[in-house]
Amino acid sequence: MSYTSILTETHGRVGLVRLNRPQAMNALNRDLLAELCQALADFDADDGIGAIVISGSEKAFAAGADIKAMAEASLVEMVRSSFVELFDGLRRVRKPVVAAVSGYALGGGCEIALACDLVVASETAKFGQPEVTIGVIPGAGGTQRLAHAIGKALAMEMVLNNRTLTAQEALHFGLVNRVTPVERFLDEALAMAAELAGRAPLAVRLGKEMVNKAYELPLNEALEAERRSFYMLFATQDQKEGMKAFIEKRKPEWKGR
Ligand code: CAA
Repeated sequence: MSYTSILTETHGRVGLVRLNRPQAMNALNRDLLAELCQALADFDADDGIGAIVISGSEKAFAAGADIKAMAEASLVEMVRSSFVELFDGLRRVRKPVVAAVSGYALGGGCEIALACDLVVASETAKFGQPEVTIGVIPGAGGTQRLAHAIGKALAMEMVLNNRTLTAQEALHFGLVNRVTPVERFLDEALAMAAELAGRAPLAVRLGKEMVNKAYELPLNEALEAERRSFYMLFATQDQKEGMKAFIEKRKPEWKGR
C-alpha cells in the first residue's frame, strides 16, 4: 500500500506508523487520518503483528487538526465530512498501540496520544489542547480523556486556558508512561511494543479491552465484564501453556489460540 501522508514499517512483530507531513508539523487532514486508519486496520488484521507504534518526527508528533483545511468550513460541511469520526479508527484497534511522542502533540495530536494505550515521550514533548485559541474546543476526545487521565482541575486549565504540559509534567500527572532523551524515544517505544508483541495475544487483547471499560462502564458492569473475560481465557490454549510453562520453569510458547 502506498501512502502520501504517513510512512509504515515493520520491526519484527511491531508495526510502525509515522505521521509524515513535515511541511505542516504533521497537521491532521482527512487524507492523513484516512491513511492512519487504514494502516492501523491492516496491522490489526495481520497475524504477524502483535503491537503497533504511532510516531511523528522529532519536532512534531502532530500539531493538531489541519487549521487551513477547515478554516472556511461551514457547520454542514464539517458534519458531512465526518472529520472527527476518523479519529475513531484508533479506538477500533484491538492490539496494543504505543504513541512515541516528540515535540508538539497539540490539539488532535494530543488526542491521538491520549487514545493510544501507552505513551513514550521524548524530553522535548509538549502536550496541549490549544483549540480555544482558535475559537473551538477539542473535538476528538480531548475534553473527556484528559479529564479521566489527569483530573478536572488540570484538564480545565488545558482546555480553557491553553496550559501545556512538558514531558516531565505529563509523566508526573500520569499522561505518559516514560520519558526518554530525544534520540531514544522511538527505540524505547519500539522496545516497549516488541515486549507487548511477545506476550499472550488474547490475554493482551482482553486486558486492553477491560482497562478501557473502566472509562466506559459503571464499576459493577465493568467488574462483571472483567470476570467473564478472566474465565473466558481458560478456554484458550495459551492459558494452559502459560501456567504449564510456569510450573515447568520454562518460557511459554504462545499460539494466540
Ligand atoms: N494546521 C495547519 N497547518 C499547521 C498547523 C495546523 N494545526 N500547525 C502548524 N502548521 C503549519 C504552519 O502554518 C506552518 O506552515 P507555513 O510554513 O506554510 O506557514 C508550518 O506548519 C510550520 O509551523 P509554524 O511556522 O507555526 O512553526 P512554529 O515552530 O513557529 O510553531 C506550533 C509550531 C506551535 C505547533 C504552531 O504551528 C501552532 O500553534 N500550530 C497550531 C496548533 C493548534 O492550534 N492546534 C489545534 C488545531 S484544532 C484541533 O486539533 C481540533 C481537534 O480537536 C480535532
